[in-house]
Amino acid sequence: MTVLFVNGKTIEADVEPDTPLLWALRENLGLTGTKYGCGVGQCGACTVHIDGQPTRSCSVTVADAVGKKIRTIEGLAENGVLHRVQQAWIDFDVPQCGYCQSGMIMAVAALLKETPQPTDKEIDAAITNICRCGTFQQVREAIHAASK
Ligand code: FES
Repeated sequence: MTVLFVNGKTIEADVEPDTPLLWALRENLGLTGTKYGCGVGQCGACTVHIDGQPTRSCSVTVADAVGKKIRTIEGLAENGVLHRVQQAWIDFDVPQCGYCQSGMIMAVAALLKETPQPTDKEIDAAITNICRCGTFQQVREAIHAASK
């Protein structure tokens, strides 16, 4: 058994330590809000927070995450209130197909924690997630709205 700390809860998972964290989240813990895109750390669809840092969960193992605080999109809202990034995503109609958006939202939430009012340049540097629908303009607008 591997003990993980996910979304504020301690969870025991029957998963091999060298399993990519993404697979453990989705297959073992049923947290399917985190998406599989490329599997090689390029697209960002699988982004979660590990100790507050945006992390591509396909590219770290379960062993890497033991003893750390993992937060997935399912744990971003608190006390039934959407995170301001989630709300901005709704207000600005950001998602199209939506597949990449949980990873995008997690990356943005981490950015705003570090940089509360990012410039366009800082947004472009920090948010390297790929959206095949091309929602980047709405993403940028929603980030500015969420940073006010
Ligand atoms: Fe992890 Fe693409 S699935 S970066």
